[in-house]
Amino acid sequence: MTAETHSKPASAAGPVRYTTVAIILHWLIAAALIFQVILGWRADDGPKGAETFALFQLHKSIGITILVLSVARLLWKFTHKSPPAPAGQPTWEKLAASAVHVGFYVIMIGLPLTGWIIASTSRINIPTVLYGAIPWPHIPGLPELAAGAKDAWNDFGHIGHSVLVKFTYVLLALHLGAVAKHQILDRDEVFGHMAAGAKPGLKEPRLWLAAAGFAAVVAAGYLYTPAKAKAPQPAPAESSADDLALPDETPAAAAPVATTAGPAPQATPAESTEAPVDSALKDPVAWAVQKGSHLDFDLAWADTPIHGTFSRWTADILFSPEALDRSKLTVSVDLASAGTGDGQRDESLQGPDFFNTASSPKAIFTATKFRKTAEGRFVADGTLDLRGVKKPLSLPFSLKIDGDTAKARGVTTLDRTAFGVGQGEWASTDQIPGKIKVSFALTAKKK
Ligand code: HEM
Ligand code: HEM
Repeated sequence: MTAETHSKPASAAGPVRYTTVAIILHWLIAAALIFQVILGWRADDGPKGAETFALFQLHKSIGITILVLSVARLLWKFTHKSPPAPAGQPTWEKLAASAVHVGFYVIMIGLPLTGWIIASTSRINIPTVLYGAIPWPHIPGLPELAAGAKDAWNDFGHIGHSVLVKFTYVLLALHLGAVAKHQILDRDEVFGHMAAGAKPGLKEPRLWLAAAGFAAVVAAGYLYTPAKAKAPQPAPAESSADDLALPDETPAAAAPVATTAGPAPQATPAESTEAPVDSALKDPVAWAVQKGSHLDFDLAWADTPIHGTFSRWTADILFSPEALDRSKLTVSVDLASAGTGDGQRDESLQGPDFFNTASSPKAIFTATKFRKTAEGRFVADGTLDLRGVKKPLSLPFSLKIDGDTAKARGVTTLDRTAFGVGQGEWASTDQIPGKIKVSFALTAKKK
């Protein structure tokens, strides 16, 4: 195959420079790779907040781009002629140059592959969306592996990635050293192979352009701040009234709750006269939870929201707004029924690092104290027993009783760390914030 027509003049020995496509790919990949190394340093060292998460998203995006460009460049290289080594170059130099170039292809493809392995075997399954727009799959087969094999692959990815990163530094030093030697000492045409029209010597403007470009890319790597880096959305410290609005509330019922501060009035018999008293509710009533009721949890992994649902739970409810002092509530949640839409993640949730369902399969919330905070709004003060730890928990909820049917909705936040949900590396709130939002919406009928 001959060189491209515009990479003339092709002497008998071969073209005087790389083809235009090869040159564009070389500089594009070189810039991307140097920027990528700086991003990698920043992301690896940074505090594990939203900014670091955004840096990693870009790191993954650029890394995959480098992979695609490098594969294209390799295919191009196999099908197009490269310029020959300068006449009289010693064999060891030719071999060294080839070795460095082969080494570069190893890291240009190996770094993204090992990075992709890390991303595909993360315990917390974070999707890769290139540049926030193009969904990129995990490596097929890896996310489905059993936890042990998955961890082994993850370790391999980490070790491979960091070894290749070190290899990159060596290659780059050799490569730049060689360019300098050819340009300044040997004063041959090698720089001109990759910078069309360049003459040997330090006066060559393209050399300074390359050096300035190098410095600019390093600076850009440090200066880049992710536009969308906002603090992870903290779960609300207190449930807001809006969170508690019933879906089918009438406009009157949805009117803002009286915001008077201070202790909420208790539902005393005297007070209860202001609302029509349902004589059937003078005593606590047993309620049976109906189908369609749900118990959910929400958390954030930096910018990635994770929504989960418990599909199996039961509630023993003995409740009447007119007999709060005698009302009782016990909710029993089968922790193994936690689903977040990702089989591997759900398996991890049940494991010893999180719920540890093998030794404490259920979370139990018991409340024997209820307060009325406003019309149709109550707080159940009780105890949550989760993962063998008992802590007080107040659950605010809104309630609407219509004949035999009651609809209740509530939301609260839990500090998972108080219950030991998240052990080892997950104990810190760097990656998964401590606050977890728990919400429910239920319909119950009088038994
Ligand atoms: C991380 C950044 C870089 C990578 C990965 C890289 C990679 C490569 C590779 C693989 C080749 C062989 C030609 C090919 O296969 O297309 C090459 C050639 C070349 N590179 Fe780089 N390069 C980088 C940065 C630079 C920089 C910053 C300069 C100049 C200051 C430079 C100058 C050259 C020159 C002059 C050649 C031609 C060598 C020859 O014909 O023997 N490279 N580079
Ligand atoms: C040519 C492409 C790439 C380069 C040059 C590169 C470079 C780096 C560098 C310099 C670090 C800092 C770690 C250290 O100093 O040891 C790093 C870390 C990391 N990179 Fe990349 N990377 C590339 C591609 C990717 C891709 C495609 C992904 C994921 C899809 C990825 C994921 C990661 C992760 C997860 C870390 C943290 C490493 C750890 O904790 O061991 N990288 N990368």
